[in-house]
Amino acid sequence: MFQVIPLILLLSSPSLVIAKDAVELLQFDNFGYTGAYSPVSALNDIYSDDCSCQLSPNQVTFSGPNTPLNEEVSVHFRGPLILRKFASYVSDGYVYGEDSSGNWNRKSYYDSESGTSENITFLTRAGKNSSCLGLGLTYADKSGIKAANSSTVLAKDSLINSNDEFAIFTNISCQSSGLNNDCGVYRPDIPAYHGFYGTTKMFLFEFQMPNETHTSPEISNYNMPAIWLLNAQIPRTAQYSLNVNCSCWRSGCGEFDIFEVKNKTEYLQLSSTIHDYQGTADIESGLAINDYIERNLTGTMIGGVTFDSKGVATVWVSNSTSFNETLAASDVNSWNKDVAEAQTTSLASASLASKTDGASTSSSHSKKGDALAYEPSTLINAIAAFLAMWVI
Ligand SMILES: *[C@@H]1O[C@H](CO)[C@@H](O)[C@H](O)[C@H]1NC(C)=O
Ligand SMILES: *[C@@H]1O[C@H](CO)[C@@H](O)[C@H](O)[C@H]1NC(C)=O
Ligand SMILES: *[C@@H]1O[C@H](CO)[C@@H](O)[C@H](O)[C@H]1NC(C)=O
Ligand SMILES: *[C@@H]1O[C@H](CO)[C@@H](O)[C@H](O)[C@H]1NC(C)=O
Ligand SMILES: *[C@@H]1O[C@H](CO)[C@@H](O)[C@H](O)[C@H]1NC(C)=O
Ligand SMILES: *[C@@H]1O[C@H](CO)[C@@H](O)[C@H](O)[C@H]1NC(C)=O
Ligand SMILES: *[C@@H]1O[C@H](CO)[C@@H](O)[C@H](O)[C@H]1NC(C)=O
Ligand SMILES: *[C@@H]1O[C@H](CO)[C@@H](O)[C@H](O)[C@H]1NC(C)=O
Ligand SMILES: *[C@@H]1O[C@H](CO)[C@@H](O)[C@H](O)[C@H]1NC(C)=O
Ligand SMILES: *[C@@H]1O[C@H](CO)[C@@H](O)[C@H](O)[C@H]1NC(C)=O
Repeated sequence: MFQVIPLILLLSSPSLVIAKDAVELLQFDNFGYTGAYSPVSALNDIYSDDCSCQLSPNQVTFSGPNTPLNEEVSVHFRGPLILRKFASYVSDGYVYGEDSSGNWNRKSYYDSESGTSENITFLTRAGKNSSCLGLGLTYADKSGIKAANSSTVLAKDSLINSNDEFAIFTNISCQSSGLNNDCGVYRPDIPAYHGFYGTTKMFLFEFQMPNETHTSPEISNYNMPAIWLLNAQIPRTAQYSLNVNCSCWRSGCGEFDIFEVKNKTEYLQLSSTIHDYQGTADIESGLAINDYIERNLTGTMIGGVTFDSKGVATVWVSNSTSFNETLAASDVNSWNKDVAEAQTTSLASASLASKTDGASTSSSHSKKGDALAYEPSTLINAIAAFLAMWVI
């Protein structure tokens, strides 16, 4: 139903400067590749100065659409932000643009207005500090950022400020920590919950990202709100680990940034980025779409992300988005069709990869705090990016 007409074909190059445009839909094609990551196999002496962690020598290999984020993911929020609604869905065969493919079933739901919270656990990093793992997860209280003793629903219109974060997991508890157990190895003193499963999944959000007025510009991530997904193993060991062996992030188990302000200066630009080594050897920078969705400082934004069954990942904002218990493929397609402009970034495929080289650059900035370099065995060292205008 959608006709794709590629207008420009550009081989990406680090020196190429491409103008950025505000759009309402961002899309990665061909998301997922054949790769591997190293899961954490042990967390040792976590409250001693000798705290250390081990990665398993047996890598987890993956291949196919949306990998490695076909694994369970947790959903993360950074302020300034007010979360008004959240929903997670799975589908048995949704394909972007095809109305006759699988429909969507809601699995988790939060609505701040009515105080509804179904199959959701709000967690936050307000636990004990460890010299190698950083702060531990706890249940969040109704503010989203202080510790509670049990699962608590986020209060209506709860504003979190710059650099404050909370995360959403399902309400399904993990069995015991262990490399071969359902949630892998996790930090012993956290409430450990499953993330959101599914190759073909969708997350919907209604949220505000008001301009920061409560904190000092000196704070990290000042006025840089974000909503993103992590492989759910990452926060259960160490989200901002102080040692590369304490999380599978560095080896590429996966992060997908849905709506992220990446730069204090460009504070109205919400970008989407994949951090998993697909298309780039630079895990810190990841692969980002050049264009952005505009942050509305005063209004409420409504949108989401779909990962379809063929590896098309679509991020959008549209006020026609609805959070119903079941949604037809045609509903989701129609929200996206309403969007006037879009940009597609095609991730490198094996045949494209041989044609260009050197897209990766090194970076000293360590987004996840685990500053030591670790080279996985399965890099795709080359990237070709196709920028296409979508004509609907
Ligand atoms: C998890 O959420 C579902 C849906 O709201 C609910 O029926 C179930 O009782 C919850 N389970 C736990 C352990 O809280
Ligand atoms: C936690 O511990 C690390 C390493 O010892 C330290 O750098 C960091 O500042 C601590 N964080 C807090 C919030 O105390
Ligand atoms: C949690 O429970 C402990 C023990 O009952 C109590 O001392 C503490 O104040 C509680 N913490 C919160 C955040 O409610
Ligand atoms: C809660 O969410 C998980 C992950 O999506 C799902 O497997 C489970 O069936 C859901 N529970 C309920 C009661 O819907
Ligand atoms: C938003 O906040 C930034 C940083 O404090 C400030 O520079 C900017 O002027 C504010 N923008 C608006 C539209 O208020
Ligand atoms: C991580 O593990 C590797 C392999 O065991 C080890 O050589 C390295 O020193 C560890 N790194 C840190 C920072 O502990
Ligand atoms: C942030 O944006 C400004 C303005 O566009 C640009 O000059 C600067 O290089 C960017 N900073 C980073 C770290 O990307
Ligand atoms: C979408 O609706 C919200 C209120 O629900 C409003 O604040 C926002 O401005 C609307 N956005 C657009 C683009 O119309
Ligand atoms: C931002 O939200 C305000 C308030 O709802 C609305 O009036 C305005 O049209 C929105 N701006 C954009 C660019 O959607
Ligand atoms: C969502 O549910 C409402 C109320 O039942 C209904 O009016 C609306 O058409 C539904 N929207 C979609 C997209 O299914």
